[in-house]
Amino acid sequence: MEREKIRELIAKMTLEEKANLCSGADFWHTESLERLGIPASMVSDGPHGLRKQDQEGDHLGVNDSITAVCFPAGCATAASFDTAMIGKLGETLGECCQAEDVSVILGPAINIKRSPLCGRNFEYYSEDPYLAGKMAAAYINGVQSKHIGTSVKHYMGNNQETRRLSVDAKIDERTLREIYLPAFEEAVKGAKPWTVMASYNKVNGEHVSESKKFLTDILRDEWGFDGYVVSDWGAVCDRVQGIRGGMDLEMPASHGLRDELIVRAVKDGSLDEALVDKAVENILNIVYRYQEHRDPSAVFDREKDHQLSGRIARECIVLLKNEGVLPIDFKRAEKESVAFIGKFSKDPRFQGGGSSHITCYQKTGAFAAAKALGFEDKIIYAKGYEDDRDVIDETLMQEAVEAAKKAKVAVIFAGLPDAFESEGFDRKHMRMPDCQNRLIEEVAKVQPNVIVVLHNGSPVEMPWVGKVKGIVESYLGGENVGTAQMEILSGMFNPCAKLPETFPKKLSDNPSYLNFPGVGNEVEYKEGIFVGYRYYEKKEMDVLFPFGHGLSYTQFTYSDLKIDKDRIREDEPLTVTLKVTNSGSMAGSEVVQLYVSDKESRVVRPVKELKGFAKIFLDQGESKEVSFTLDQRAFSYYETAISDWFVESGEFEILVGASSSDIRLQKTVYVEGTKKLPVVYDLDSTMGDVLKDPRAAKLVEPIRKASTMEELTITEGEGMGAGADEMATAMEEFAPLRNVLSFGNGTMTPDRLQEIVDEMNRP
Ligand code: BGC
Repeated sequence: MEREKIRELIAKMTLEEKANLCSGADFWHTESLERLGIPASMVSDGPHGLRKQDQEGDHLGVNDSITAVCFPAGCATAASFDTAMIGKLGETLGECCQAEDVSVILGPAINIKRSPLCGRNFEYYSEDPYLAGKMAAAYINGVQSKHIGTSVKHYMGNNQETRRLSVDAKIDERTLREIYLPAFEEAVKGAKPWTVMASYNKVNGEHVSESKKFLTDILRDEWGFDGYVVSDWGAVCDRVQGIRGGMDLEMPASHGLRDELIVRAVKDGSLDEALVDKAVENILNIVYRYQEHRDPSAVFDREKDHQLSGRIARECIVLLKNEGVLPIDFKRAEKESVAFIGKFSKDPRFQGGGSSHITCYQKTGAFAAAKALGFEDKIIYAKGYEDDRDVIDETLMQEAVEAAKKAKVAVIFAGLPDAFESEGFDRKHMRMPDCQNRLIEEVAKVQPNVIVVLHNGSPVEMPWVGKVKGIVESYLGGENVGTAQMEILSGMFNPCAKLPETFPKKLSDNPSYLNFPGVGNEVEYKEGIFVGYRYYEKKEMDVLFPFGHGLSYTQFTYSDLKIDKDRIREDEPLTVTLKVTNSGSMAGSEVVQLYVSDKESRVVRPVKELKGFAKIFLDQGESKEVSFTLDQRAFSYYETAISDWFVESGEFEILVGASSSDIRLQKTVYVEGTKKLPVVYDLDSTMGDVLKDPRAAKLVEPIRKASTMEELTITEGEGMGAGADEMATAMEEFAPLRNVLSFGNGTMTPDRLQEIVDEMNRP
């Protein structure tokens, strides 16, 4: 319905009716208004499957929902680095929603992985905002191509579960702009989500669900968002302030209680009714956008989607380590020569707990998948551990050791049990259960060929990393993860995913370690912009597995890197091309990564930052050209002095490689920045800074003359020691202008000095 028509409808409503439309009818529906023929519409979780609840609503995954297909969670799909594939996932989810009459799916969840401990990392994409933003936009475009809305969440600063409803995240402006906002910015600008979900927490003292800065100034005015903002379930505190800030829809229903507050505030003049009208308009715009594009032909084909879930999962599995043990030739393997150890081989952990929890259509673990491929007799199984308690069961372990001894290779299916990570609480540490770590150590003592297959939503410490020959990271791979694991283990499919986050060696290496999850209701993001690889690289710290890492069964050769210009102005695009060749012996896909590094900067910047990636499929021996276009954002940092992005003139390195620590090619480009930073001189301005500005340098001459600095000659051996020249230079460079009053032999008066400074500041 056109906005004009919606406004005409709103003009016919009473204030009470309008207030009523600003909150849900129940847990999952927007309000209807029969008198004016306005329909209700349903929303459901998300993000990696449809969690439509038929009866009793809850948002913690406690009550049942309809049977649906569970796709790989965000932690996994991000590892695919495959925007086309995540778009396909989105389309499929959109189709299910059409079939089930759900107007909006509550996802994607795209908060930055600040700490490996965040209980909800399994739903989130990355430590890198560029990757998270691109994946989010692809998901949204996919879902919305089916005329179903998305709800990008949790906007913003919701990077932990501890006290998520009350915590105040203290984040400085540059860090907000460079790390915590850009994924949302890309999602909004690149895919126009129908809705955005305001998070529970506060940022810098203000609840996001009431913040005009975040919900209106940035989201709507800067980024052009035109849908409705919905509160996370229960995120509303001051409803009237929320309306002022731009929080349109309260969920779930407040049973009229808070609608009444809106009515009262309008009546007593403390709330402008036009703001209520605007909120209703935003909501109805989306309600009708859905209603007018209902697709009665849509079908939710669970069997087909189960297969798709497996195909997506195989694109998401990261081969972390392979010392010649993979792939396993199951076809030629002798009877009982491959030990499958661990409960997760039969009953894998493939999704997380909480609001995203899906009532699955089917579950296929690796053991079942092996059976379906006819490999059952090649496998000897041992359970190894229990996953509902972390207790070493000597009998289970002994059985596992015996199985491993008999076999030629032992594949241990391990990872985090449900109790270790979930929505609602954070992890206490970064370790796997002790019983599993011990199991791996014991098996590795008797079997030289050990492969560990992991199931987890976030990095784990691997004390046994040097004792096993293969490590396969499945993340939480959805209900058909077993099929995907078997395809990777057997070499039917060539692994092609890369880590969307760094695996540090230990938790205390992580930059948020000293400030996570904060003290009481306050958490300070003291590491600033140095999140994930931005920190580890700057600190030159060894990590377990770097950002972007992932192996293949083939090799890729990078060559012919070209940039279309050696020198650009910041507003000109730069085209980067290169050739990638599959020089190994198996077809496969490669994720080519492009990073930009500022060679010299006036501010502290990361060593490099991801600014492009492409996933390409190459047959054996095939070559393809890969091309990237960089815009000025690729070279910018956020400069708080101008409240804007800023490119410093100078040289930048364009780095292309197979991971953040495997850069294969590089080129240098000179970028000319065109914006000027405002300079305000005062008595604390240093001589060095002033002399860089030719106009100011001229004006400052009398000060230099008056000061003894010029004549100040310090020579070695006169008590100053070696380096005296450098010291004298440094003393002038860092001398504030006011020094002339102390060291100018009385030749410069305070008034005269101030006059000169005023003149320097004159435009
Ligand atoms: C979660 C959201 C979810 C909502 C509805 C909240 O607790 O944070 O991600 O969409 O519940 O279930």
